[in-house]
Amino acid sequence: MWIRILGAIAAALPLLAPAAQAQPEPALLERGRYLVETAAFCGACHGTRGPDGQIIRGMELAGGRVMTERGYRAIVPNITPDPETGIGGWSEADIVNAIRNGLRPDGSLIGPPMPIEFYRGLSDRDVAAMAAYLRRAPPVRHAVTGRSAYNFPVESYGPPVTSVPDPPDNPVARGAYLAGPVAHCMDCHTPELPGDRRDMSRIGAGGVTFEGPWGIVPARNITPHREYGIGDWTEEQIRRALVQGTAPDGRRLAPPMGGRAPVFARMAEGDLRDIIAYLRALPPLAP
Ligand code: HEC
Ligand code: HEC
Repeated sequence: MWIRILGAIAAALPLLAPAAQAQPEPALLERGRYLVETAAFCGACHGTRGPDGQIIRGMELAGGRVMTERGYRAIVPNITPDPETGIGGWSEADIVNAIRNGLRPDGSLIGPPMPIEFYRGLSDRDVAAMAAYLRRAPPVRHAVTGRSAYNFPVESYGPPVTSVPDPPDNPVARGAYLAGPVAHCMDCHTPELPGDRRDMSRIGAGGVTFEGPWGIVPARNITPHREYGIGDWTEEQIRRALVQGTAPDGRRLAPPMGGRAPVFARMAEGDLRDIIAYLRALPPLAP
């Protein structure tokens, strides 16, 4: 009798196991969606843009953007799970390895401006949530052709990341995590080093310069320096720069920043507060 019951359980196991594996916790998927769509906004680069420069609805991850802002030519791939034109053939572990270590399954390196230097700091839970969500996002068939061309060798981002805990439970630490590894604010707002890497000793002191129809604008100093940074801004003014894309004098912030406002406006209120708390706590840096 026991043998028969055990036999029945054993027979059921292969059916149960894959199903259990294929269905991550709803909370994990929801976290993954929040990170990919909002807080990390992968679509800023991975979104397919229409002639008006806006991301086409439903194609937030379908790729095709050609990015030349930083002096090289990067072609952004389709990261929906479409098997032929996207990353449908990749496992969740492959996706984690791509985000954290900048490595594709074939061992090649992913080049900038994908901010791998920052994504190395994503916690185990968050990077797993992103990968779980990306595997289950709607597949979009959209072939992206051509290869990125860099005017420097793309080098390894460092030894493989093994484990990163969630940030400590206080506003400044959470804000540092959000403004760094998650929303990569500091990828734009930190001085550049050769190879499109960042000078992490001068975080927030102003960085990448963007050129477009709106003119030439640097990602400004967002440390609390009173003269060179945003030390005189109130918390509400910083919040408006993020969620409305406007400076205290009413000036509209250029698209690399202002264009993110509708997305940042959907960020959890607590996350916005933590980012602002962190900006306030940065050492004030002069140019
Ligand atoms: C600032 C722009 C930018 C952002 C933000 C960005 N990426 Fe990328 N990503 C790129 C570029 C450019 C490439 C291709 C680089 C190359 O050609 O070597 C890429 C490559 C990838 C690849 C490899 C796909 C393939 O087929 O080779 C994956 C996976 C990926 N990104 C996932 C993500 C995820 C997930 C996010 C958000 C957490 C994200 N990226 C955010 C620019 C970006
Ligand atoms: C893709 C690059 C990019 C990212 C990512 C980015 N910014 Fe910006 N940011 C800019 C640029 C460029 C400007 C300057 C816009 C202008 O002056 O018109 C700017 C302006 C600002 C300003 C106004 C500063 C001033 O003196 O006018 C603040 C505050 C700011 N960013 C904070 C942030 C925070 C916080 C994040 C992350 C949640 C972030 N930025 C993400 C590029 C970026």
